[in-house]
Amino acid sequence: MTTATYDPNDLAFWYPRIASVPGLLTPTTEIIQTNARLFDLLDGDAPDAYGELVGQLVEAAERICPLGGASSNLGPVFLRTGHGSGKHQWSDTCWVANRVLMGWHVTALVEWSASVGLPVGTWVVRGRLPVHYLFSCDAYRGLPVTREFRVFIEHGNVTHVQPYWPMEAVKEGRPDHPDWQKLLAEASTLTADERNTITAMAFHAVAAIGTGDWSVDFLQTIDGHWYLIDMAEAARSYRYQPTTP
Ligand SMILES: Nc1ncnc2c1ncn2[C@@H]1O[C@H](COP(=O)(O)OP(=O)(O)O)[C@@H](O)[C@H]1O
Ligand SMILES: [Mg+2]
Repeated sequence: MTTATYDPNDLAFWYPRIASVPGLLTPTTEIIQTNARLFDLLDGDAPDAYGELVGQLVEAAERICPLGGASSNLGPVFLRTGHGSGKHQWSDTCWVANRVLMGWHVTALVEWSASVGLPVGTWVVRGRLPVHYLFSCDAYRGLPVTREFRVFIEHGNVTHVQPYWPMEAVKEGRPDHPDWQKLLAEASTLTADERNTITAMAFHAVAAIGTGDWSVDFLQTIDGHWYLIDMAEAARSYRYQPTTP
């Protein structure tokens, strides 16, 4: 089932437009759309098509990262809606360590989406990217902090580049490492080459979409590559001027 409304902040809008751009790395991604009345879950009702959705998400997870066999690809998958991941409740929402609990994660993401006023028509299963965890945040249910940056492209120009994780928000998450501030500060600087790489990737992505002002988020994997993981309209994206600790 599809929901065909125009919403640039929905991954179902931007991802298909950038997925095949040469040189742009993105996680393996499957998109499932539903008209199920998922907010009924908040009243304790399982709406029609809820079970079907959960089954489709489990199947997508199995295609992306097969369990069993001799695959070295075993492991969790990443779950989000078209609009967000509820990452501040990490192990309940987006980090699906055990697929038997997929329905639990869907419900938690529906609850989070309702609390922040976001729609739940688009569901996304992604392959887990191999990242270096700097530390985790206990108050965000184990959210791991990794090296990420956000690039703003507005009127065809790079208008701002910021580390993805603001110190204050991380602090509230109760980091589990005594030197977290130092680790985060180190991870929050970019070399000129790195900056050139991610801004060029952001340009290519925005050019592929062809219109609008955007924020483009990049995550660095263990092997040093940059992956484009998220995009949103610039005006709707959190923006800040980093301060040194
Ligand atoms: N495929 C993935 N593998 C591992 N971690 C991921 C993956 N996708 C996202 N993340 C982590 O989860 C965070 C939130 O993901 P994102 O899709 O941007 O949702 P949101 O818009 O809610 O922030 C990212 O900043 C990154 O740290
Ligand atoms: Mg995001």
